[in-house]
Amino acid sequence: MEETVRLTLNGKPVTLTTDTDRSLLWVLRTDLQLTGPKYGCGEGHCGACTVLVNHESLRACQMTVKEVAGKDVITIEGLAQNGTLHPIQKTFVDHDALQCGFCTPGMILTAVGLLHENPHPTVQEITDGMEDNLCRCGAYKHVVQAIVAASEKPQGGTAR
Ligand code: FES
Ligand code: FES
Repeated sequence: MEETVRLTLNGKPVTLTTDTDRSLLWVLRTDLQLTGPKYGCGEGHCGACTVLVNHESLRACQMTVKEVAGKDVITIEGLAQNGTLHPIQKTFVDHDALQCGFCTPGMILTAVGLLHENPHPTVQEITDGMEDNLCRCGAYKHVVQAIVAASEKPQGGTAR
């Protein structure tokens, strides 16, 4: 059913009038032209579509628009602030933690959510926290190194 929903998207208030049972991923990608969240599996298995909802990393392909009403949603497009990369974006670059880049928005936002909950995780906690994000290029080792480096920064890489 078509309804009007308000949320905060990448720091700005957004009002959407749409069928609120639609997939958040498709509304972001097709209505709002935010193509950072990727369509990988569409079934909640790969993590390519990950966004932050109230600081928690969640799979946009498994959410409806009505589930984010009144919430704070961040996609990869909203992570850098005033042209400055988020600490985790920076360490992904520094550690070559991406190849084709398809999985990277989801990897980075999952890592941001992980460090928000646990600013200084062990390597095993990082490995466990990232294990449901798939990378066809096999960049896992570098991804973990990048998150370790971010976690060693002041505030555990959570500063925006
Ligand atoms: Fe959402 Fe794969 S596209 S988890
Ligand atoms: Fe290509 Fe991960 S960098 S899928």
